[in-house]
Order: sequence, then C-alpha cells, then structure tokens
Amino acid sequence: MNADVSGAPKSWDPAHYLKYAGQRIRPALDLLARIPLDEARTIADLGCGPGNVVEHLARAFPGAAITGVDNSAQMLNAARSEHGDAATWVQMDAARWEPDAPQDLIFANASLQWLDRHEILFPRLMGFLRPGGVLAVQMPDQFAEPSHVEMRAVATEGPWAATLKSLLRPAPVARPEDYYDWLSPRAASLDIWRTAYTQVMEGNDPVLDWIGASAMKPLREALPADQKGPFRDALAERLRRAYPRRADGTTLFAFKRLFIIAVSL
Ligand SMILES: C[S@@+](CC[C@H](N)C(=O)[O-])C[C@H]1O[C@@H](n2cnc3c(N)ncnc32)[C@H](O)[C@@H]1O
Repeated sequence: MNADVSGAPKSWDPAHYLKYAGQRIRPALDLLARIPLDEARTIADLGCGPGNVVEHLARAFPGAAITGVDNSAQMLNAARSEHGDAATWVQMDAARWEPDAPQDLIFANASLQWLDRHEILFPRLMGFLRPGGVLAVQMPDQFAEPSHVEMRAVATEGPWAATLKSLLRPAPVARPEDYYDWLSPRAASLDIWRTAYTQVMEGNDPVLDWIGASAMKPLREALPADQKGPFRDALAERLRRAYPRRADGTTLFAFKRLFIIAVSL
C-alpha cells in the first residue's frame, strides 16, 4: 500500500503556502465551476487555510453565510487579516465539525487528505447537507508520484529513519470507486474525476519548495535541527533526478488531483 506522512503539520507558514497561490487555486476554481447549484445560502469551507478560496465562493454565491473551518491558528490568522469578515472563522478539527443547521454547500479544497478514515468522514459530511445540497471536495492524488515516493524513500533510508518511520501512514486518499461506494447510498448524483496538472515551475528545486510548504512539513518538523539540512539536501538531489530541468530552465511538475461532487438525496 502507498504510504504518506501522518497528520497535518504542527504549524503552517501561510506565506510559503501562498507562494504558489496561482497554481494552488486552479483546482479549487475547477471544482467550483462544476458545482450544480444556482444559489447557496450556507457554505462551509473545511480546511479553509488562509481563506484564499472564500472570496471565490462569495463571488459565486453572493450573500451566502460562509464558515471557514481550520485547525491551524496561523492559517486562520492569515485568513482573518486578508479576508476579514468574508466568513465566520472557526478553529477546530474538521473531523469533529458539525454545523448548526443543514448546509447548502460543504466545500473542501486540498484539505481532507490530512484527515483519516474517509469511509466514515465522507458519509458523515453528507449527513450535514440539506436535500439537494452539495459536498465538493478536491484532494491531491499524488501519493504514488515521484514527489511523494522520493520523499518517503529518503525518510525511510537515511539516519533519520527511526525518527520518521512512525510518521508514515497509509495513503489517505482512496480510489474513486471507494468514494462512489461510500457516498452513493446518500447521493442523488455523483461527479468524480481526476486531473493531472502539468505545472511549469521556476527557480531552484521548485518541487522541493512546493512540498516543503505542505506534504514534507511534518517530516522536517520532527527532525532535530542538525538533520533538517541533510534531509533536505538528500531529497533535493533525488527530486532533481525525478524532475529534470527543461532546456529553458523550468521544471515540469505533474500534479494529480481527485475531484468529488456529491449532491445529497
Ligand atoms: C493545503 S491547505 C488548503 C487550504 C485551502 N483550502 C486552499 O484551497 O488553499 C490544507 C489546510 O487544511 C487544514 N487542515 C489540515 N488538517 C485539518 C483538520 N483536521 N481540521 C481542519 N483543518 C485541517 C490545514 O491547517 C491547512 O490550512
């Protein structure tokens, strides 16, 4: 089975995360474009991060009451300072979140991969929708790709293996057919698709920099100060081989994503 690092990072760096804001927002907009709702009055954005999708949700559904849920104080501070009263910001674990009333839309972009037990989580979220309400989810489907394979290889092969081994967990994102089986008993319709974005990245070690803001963060956090640099260098070398520079100096980074839109019965 593929494995990935366990749990979300203990801390997030919103500025580093938003360095690739353009590339990170695109799947959110592709997800939003497929939501089959003319209007929505109540929206929850689970794992809202620095709030960068909230303005798009507000534009798509004017007048909606939006709740942004995230368990990171750093991310919510960034959301509050950048997007202020665009949403009600709630700091809590999305796995425990329960709305006061049935929602028109539950939106989760690039966040639920940090949560386990999707066979329980996804049907639970469907239960928080009004009839005809929509669960819209996008998650990285990157766990068998070189970026994550190399990261796990370095984690398990270096002198830090004993420290990092306990952080590896089964790949959190399941197969499309699993989501179909878990959601279809509660869904009037399901729209599930995969996309690979070939991202054109600039600068030195851009793939390392990209995963350094998200998937790699829990591993680096767990290492003692004197191992952080060597771990980074070992991974950088492998990623340079896996993602060689093109003739024009850019690096192509294929990033796969899984999309799920479920309309509640
Ligand atoms: C990769 S960011 C995505 C942010 C935003 N949705 C976007 O599209 O840019 C993942 C977010 O999920 C949040 N997160 C991770 N685990 C969570 C949990 N258990 N409960 C709530 N939020 C969580 C993180 O704090 C982080 O802000």
